Amino acid sequence: ATRVLTGITTSGTPHLGNYVGAIRPAVAASRMQGVESFYFLADYHALIKVQDPARVQRSTLEIAATWLACGLEPDKVWFYRQSDVPETAELYWLLTCVAGKGLLNRAHAYKAAVDKNRADQLDDDAAITAGLFMYPVLMSADILLFNAHKVPVGRDQVQHIEMARDFAQRFNHLYGEHFTLPEAIIDESVATLPGLDGRKMSKSYDNTIALFAPREQLRKLIFSILTDSKAPGEAKDADASHVFQLYQAFASDAETAAMRQAFADGIGWGDAKQALFERIDAEVAPLRVKYEALMARPAEIEAILRDGAHRLRERHAAPLMRQLREAVGYRDLS
Ligand code: TYM
Repeated sequence: ATRVLTGITTSGTPHLGNYVGAIRPAVAASRMQGVESFYFLADYHALIKVQDPARVQRSTLEIAATWLACGLEPDKVWFYRQSDVPETAELYWLLTCVAGKGLLNRAHAYKAAVDKNRADQLDDDAAITAGLFMYPVLMSADILLFNAHKVPVGRDQVQHIEMARDFAQRFNHLYGEHFTLPEAIIDESVATLPGLDGRKMSKSYDNTIALFAPREQLRKLIFSILTDSKAPGEAKDADASHVFQLYQAFASDAETAAMRQAFADGIGWGDAKQALFERIDAEVAPLRVKYEALMARPAEIEAILRDGAHRLRERHAAPLMRQLREAVGYRDLS
């Protein structure tokens, strides 16, 4: 079977970008024949940004409930929390020792942090943890621990998957063919969902629309999306509009074509936003009901996660780690 794996960092409330870029395509893929799916809550990654235990726990619960509400079937896929599979951390070290520092210097997230320090006239590495620097290695461990073939992600994550290939290749070269080289899968139609201000929707930019915001709040947020000041009746450029991009991510091809025409015909921003709100709410409302029911039963979610990790360690993580430990010259602990 083709192994498909993806994760979401538990550092906040899931937003429309996570849904369109990761959750929706992943749940669809998990229903295909001949696919073994791995979906996890990246709580090791979360500590890079969030050092508030209550918030990490809350986010873990929210993201788990989101996956389940969106139709993930935990008895048909591997569904787990990263820190419940500590083999990840051990593999991370083995990969650290084949990861080129020069390659990590070029990681976007690290470079962005350095650029920000420079703009603020601070030392390049001021307040940057080794955790942020090593982020791509940790992500490689997630992927390589299960020898995933395909990793569906947003465009922002592609570089990390290329790095995972690089580390896997070096490890294979040194120690024998242990790792499959993973491939990023990007849904071209929705590569990067914009946020309220038009930049990529991201927790870091504080421009997100929560996937399960209550209906009225969803409407308010959508009406707060930045637009130009063209009046109703003036033709608008669909391709330059974030409202249109968001609409496209939730609409059929026919609806999208009709909206493109409406933009050319000068639809007013208020009407365009109303249409966007209705389109998103139509898709999200039934999921929101399930989400709220799940959030009321945290113990059930917890049991699902534990069970998933337990079975996964036995079936996949422990055997691979045993093999890797032997490959690098360690003794068998079992
Ligand atoms: P994270 O938590 O930032 O985002 C989770 C997923 O959502 C996608 N995404 C978006 N897609 C489209 N438009 C957006 N505006 C948008 N914002 C987020 C991301 O591309 C991602 O697919 N490092 C990862 C988590 C991770 C992971 C992994 C993923 C850890 N280990 C191994 C895949 C494989 C991250 O921080 O994603």
